[in-house]
Amino acid sequence: MKKSITYFENSGEENTDELISLVKDRLKGSNIKYVAIASASGESAIKLANALEDVTIINVTHHAGFHGPNQLDISEDTRSKLKNMGVVTFVGSHALSGVGKGIAKQLGGLNPVEIVAQTYRTFSQGIKVCAEITIMLADAGLVPVGEEIIAIGGTGHGVDTAAVITPVNMTKVFDIKFHEIIAMPRD
Ligand SMILES: Cc1cc2nc3c(=O)[nH]c(=O)nc-3n(C[C@H](O)[C@H](O)[C@H](O)COP(=O)(O)O)c2cc1C
Repeated sequence: MKKSITYFENSGEENTDELISLVKDRLKGSNIKYVAIASASGESAIKLANALEDVTIINVTHHAGFHGPNQLDISEDTRSKLKNMGVVTFVGSHALSGVGKGIAKQLGGLNPVEIVAQTYRTFSQGIKVCAEITIMLADAGLVPVGEEIIAIGGTGHGVDTAAVITPVNMTKVFDIKFHEIIAMPRD
């Protein structure tokens, strides 16, 4: 089997539109029914929802309090705009930091989950994010385990990475399967 991967010269949000069009191409003629995207503000998720049809899109924003007490990174307006486009926005604890990060922050020491996260980041920030949101959504019952989906992530803002993944629950973290990288930054 031969497949192509697109490598962006630089990471970051300037790759968002092209990334979305590559995902659209990958979906043509495929059986993939779910596309998960990490879009903190919801802006990249809106672009995705405008581009795709006939798939279920689920948006993941940061957990509440990521940028300040009781704050969500997505506005009510954007969340309901997405809802009207058929896109659910999930808010929950980050699978690849979780309580372990809180313990390490307050008490110091090593957080093994962070080692998993950092290892994924050796490919790209987005690869880590793809794994993380896939597990979060599997645990929320919003994507099926054992069925290939596309996950999309980025580097801080916008999106620059997409992969075909079979989701697992967090209890089976090392059984997650990355089948294909559709695109990622090369830097
Ligand atoms: C749960 C979650 C975890 C994230 N983790 C990281 C990360 O570790 N590194 C990173 O560069 N970006 C991270 N992001 C940012 C996303 O990859 C993406 O760039 C961003 O959510 C796009 O949001 P926008 O549509 O508002 O621009 C994370 C986002 C979410 C929702």
